[in-house]
Amino acid sequence: MISLRNVSTHFAGKRGEDGFTAVDDVCLDVPAGSIQGVIGFSGAGKSTLLRNINLLERPTSGQVVVDGVDLTALDDEGLRRERHQLGMIFQHFNLLNNRTAQENVELSLKFAGVPKRERRERAAEALEIVDLGDRARSYPAKLSGGQKQRVAIARALATKPKVLLCDEPTSALDPRTTGSVLQYLADINQQLGITTVVVTHELDVVKNIVDDVAVMEAGRIAERFAVDDLRSGAFQPTTEIGRYLLDADLHIKRVPLAERRRHVAANSTAAKELAHV
Ligand SMILES: Nc1ncnc2c1ncn2[C@@H]1O[C@H](COP(=O)(O)OP(=O)(O)OP(=O)(O)O)[C@@H](O)[C@H]1O
Ligand SMILES: [Mg+2]
Repeated sequence: MISLRNVSTHFAGKRGEDGFTAVDDVCLDVPAGSIQGVIGFSGAGKSTLLRNINLLERPTSGQVVVDGVDLTALDDEGLRRERHQLGMIFQHFNLLNNRTAQENVELSLKFAGVPKRERRERAAEALEIVDLGDRARSYPAKLSGGQKQRVAIARALATKPKVLLCDEPTSALDPRTTGSVLQYLADINQQLGITTVVVTHELDVVKNIVDDVAVMEAGRIAERFAVDDLRSGAFQPTTEIGRYLLDADLHIKRVPLAERRRHVAANSTAAKELAHV
């Protein structure tokens, strides 16, 4: 579903200073319907890589192919259209404070070119998915951190994306709220089959919802492994973070990807429309 081919991102330095290569020749394939984790120390290039996927940060070189479309080859109009297939959520929610939950979600639909009469209904549907139907008229200031992040998830889902990009979606939340937001992300992945990439510092996120992990170090992917292989001992990580994951107890059960895909295929037509698997 997502294929990064030799993606590099170089930030030019100011006059006289050397530039900085934040993402260095990364190749990564994320299968449809899976949840890809990206972990690594601060400054490793995780956020830049995530922003490369929807071209919020256009890579200096390499290709980004999503569902068979080379985003890096599109013109502005083509990219604008394709971007609506890529939902994104951020660490600090990025909601507009002077708009209600419903209006925040409707705004993303407006940007996606959805006609006004459809926006209200689709925003309401998206808020239902994250169980916030009853808070549609609340302003962000009146919502808890977890609720704000759920509005942000609804906003990302409203355009019916094929891909959900999450940059540290739970690091501003307390552990219990983290659990609830992770559950929503796992449920959405399972029910709608949305291919998800999660950048995180938190091992809980990796242990609970991720299928595959990519460890970033200094702009490169230092290693990759399936969380199941880590669990079974079939894979021995070589990076410091990978080894740490191995030591942390992994006891949460996940439905295998093939089973999740079957579940999606067997489910509602709306889900089929979204799944693209
Ligand atoms: N617009 C920019 N201009 C110059 N350098 C940048 C820019 N954005 C990021 N960088 C640099 O690129 C490197 C990687 O940044 P990035 O935000 O991708 O790291 P990260 O792995 O997400 O870190 P963190 O875990 O702290 O969020 C950092 O050294 C950062 O200073
Ligand atoms: Mg970051």
